[in-house]
Amino acid sequence: MSEKREHWSGNWGFLMALAGSAIGLGNIWKFPYVTGKYGGGAFVLVYLCCIMVIGLPILIGELTIGRTTGLNPIGAFAALCPKRSKLADLLGGIILLSGIALITFSQIGYGILVMLLGAVILYGGWKAIGLISGVITPFLILGYYGVVGGWTLIYAVKAVTGNLVFKTAAEAQAAFTPIQQAAPGTWWYVIGGQLAFMTLCGIILWFGVKKGIERCSKVLMPSLFVLLIVLILRSISLPGASAGIKFFLSPDFSKLSAEAVLVALGQAFYTLSLGMGISIVYGSYVRKETNLPKSVLQLIGLDTMVAMMAGLAIFPAVFAMGFEPAAGEGLVFQILPTAFNMIPGGLGSVWSSFFFIAVSIAALTSGISLMEVIVSVLIDYFKMKRWAAVLFSWSSISILGVFCSISMNSWKNIPWMEKGLTTLFGTPPGSLFLTLDNLTANWFLPAAGMAVSVFVGWVWGVRNAVNEIRKGAGRELDTNFFILLSGMRGESGYGDSYKHIFTPASVWGFFIRFITPVSVMFVFLNMTGAIKFN
Ligand code: PHE
Repeated sequence: MSEKREHWSGNWGFLMALAGSAIGLGNIWKFPYVTGKYGGGAFVLVYLCCIMVIGLPILIGELTIGRTTGLNPIGAFAALCPKRSKLADLLGGIILLSGIALITFSQIGYGILVMLLGAVILYGGWKAIGLISGVITPFLILGYYGVVGGWTLIYAVKAVTGNLVFKTAAEAQAAFTPIQQAAPGTWWYVIGGQLAFMTLCGIILWFGVKKGIERCSKVLMPSLFVLLIVLILRSISLPGASAGIKFFLSPDFSKLSAEAVLVALGQAFYTLSLGMGISIVYGSYVRKETNLPKSVLQLIGLDTMVAMMAGLAIFPAVFAMGFEPAAGEGLVFQILPTAFNMIPGGLGSVWSSFFFIAVSIAALTSGISLMEVIVSVLIDYFKMKRWAAVLFSWSSISILGVFCSISMNSWKNIPWMEKGLTTLFGTPPGSLFLTLDNLTANWFLPAAGMAVSVFVGWVWGVRNAVNEIRKGAGRELDTNFFILLSGMRGESGYGDSYKHIFTPASVWGFFIRFITPVSVMFVFLNMTGAIKFN
């Protein structure tokens, strides 16, 4: 290793850094909307179950892999996996064959990718998960995430300088479309936003783990919290706000379809930044004294709280100003600037500024966590100095981002790429942006999540993993659940007698082996359209 590995300064710094990664656009533009759509409070309950079934087991698994090896994702899997694994060979073979099948169904682009994946697994065994989730996925995601990050920065600057004043949603749309599509006159502007976003990520990472990621998360995360609280107070005190609160939270169990459960599972997975190598890398900076299960529970609490807060800041204002709820770009870049701007009292720009600064913070801290994954691989594997690793990641991802930005337009400018993508992936004439989004969110992430749980549960082994988790964790980990919950712990005869049966450790082991991989498989089938619900 060319540089000594840094560690988080303590539990708080670790928690804030992890929260910085977890709390992102998913919390702000996705969670509130799907909650409203699929049954409000009822959906929140299902979502919390999904967090427990998928989120918590995999998150602990990834952090543990990172901490025990102290390495980047490729190195970590290489260090833990056996030399040859029949299971990996079998999986690799099946994936290779599926790729060939896809090609015969003229899904050429995906077919080639899947075949490559199978070949990589056959060649490298479990190390392949490290390569895919630790290098390829973060690289591809950040390519388009940086573009959205750029939009958030552009809107934050516009709001602060008082240039985000829309009177109608149509006006907001007219202003956003050219930016979204990087229309000829606004090219430089969109690319500039994306480059600014990537540059900010790069500068923070250049300072390192403790002085960069941790220090900025410790300032930015609490600020995000405060901004949201101010927005909530304003939003829920508007006349007509209650319709928004009702849409967001009033429990409606009739809307809890099978689809709702799958959406909740997918959201639980995405919001905790799983399957992108992030928690492996962040875990590699964790000290042995840190209580991992406790930190993970705190993180889940924070992440869910911010998602709920975002809903309370957004929907009361949206309804009070007479708009329809929506998700994604439409909500954040069209409805909300207009709604916040219309809030009576002449402070419209202040509310939009608060909101867009909050969104930029959420996007930025997620962006740095993704870039850090690639940086850590370059430092460990290629023995680069941190500054060189940052420069290399920054420049290569920015180039991909520039293509993403341009591709949102009508493609007249890069016809060869349009032709290539539409033939290979059948992407609607449109964009590299959408292809990358679809490829990563629907395919790579769930596949990596499944691979991680199978790896931890069956290959590396629950026994090894639990031994690592025990370091820094309290005795609660090995105490019977009923004894913990009944408050009888320490009572003579109750302390240790039911040790190892139905303990947090054994339940985690059971989940990571059986329940979690099967649940992720359902998410996967749903995302890829293999199962459909009406
Ligand atoms: N956890 C993030 C969210 O909820 C997802 C994400 C993390 C996306 C890191 C990109 C990079 O939005």
